[in-house]
Amino acid sequence: MLMYGWMKFVEIAPERYDWAVKFMTGGRIDQIKDRIADAVRPGDRVLDIGCGTGTLGLRCMKKGADFVGLDSSRYMLEQTQKYADTAGVGNRLTVVHDSVTQLRAHFADESFDVVTSTMALGEFPRDFLDFIMKECRRILKPGGRLLIADEVWPEKFFPRLAYQVGLVLLWIPQFLLLRRALFPIKDLRQIIVSAGFKVTGVTTWAASSFHLVEAEKELVAVSPQVVSPQTESAAVTPVMAYR
Ligand SMILES: C[S@@+](CC[C@H](N)C(=O)[O-])C[C@H]1O[C@@H](n2cnc3c(N)ncnc32)[C@H](O)[C@@H]1O
Repeated sequence: MLMYGWMKFVEIAPERYDWAVKFMTGGRIDQIKDRIADAVRPGDRVLDIGCGTGTLGLRCMKKGADFVGLDSSRYMLEQTQKYADTAGVGNRLTVVHDSVTQLRAHFADESFDVVTSTMALGEFPRDFLDFIMKECRRILKPGGRLLIADEVWPEKFFPRLAYQVGLVLLWIPQFLLLRRALFPIKDLRQIIVSAGFKVTGVTTWAASSFHLVEAEKELVAVSPQVVSPQTESAAVTPVMAYR
């Protein structure tokens, strides 16, 4: 909520958005985006949900990935296009001006290698997040990677207490200014696991109030019993498939 209030304020002016995010995160956002881009390989098709000005996308495109930036703000997407064109990678960019709730309308099953989102999912209630994560699973190819970085409730007692105090102090001015109630995500990891992903790593920053969760669309064994004609015994020959 602390970060989101500020974000909402600067989102309406994309040209000042990037420095504001850097200021707000003490430059850590660059490390986080570098880390996410490290997981992207040349030739990957990457979707970034709530891509903002596309600074993560730029890193991915420079690595040779094809990047789809989805955002509900036209102004943010214009900035994304500008950055990509200036860097000479505009041919690798597709922008989609729509809400994250419309993933099904735009993207086919198993059509992405990587789905990412940074600081964009905290506005949604739990039911919505469950729905979005299931959609992410649908559009990811088998073995595809999900990388979500967002503001979360700190897990440890004292950081959580300090965070709660800040939240109480800032909630009313933020609501008056933005007319929105914004909260950090509860149980980000659990939401991702519940959607059927295997979590492969969680990195925390800022007294554990910011998490990067890395996950993949897991390979699971189905129809394991096959009779071997040689031994006439039931040999376990797992057939691997993606749920
Ligand atoms: C805090 S910014 C983060 C931008 C970018 N991911 C970054 O890390 O710099 C949140 C972004 O989510 C977008 N957004 C908000 N609600 C959205 C929705 N329902 N569907 C798609 N994008 C949304 C906003 O327009 C904004 O660009």
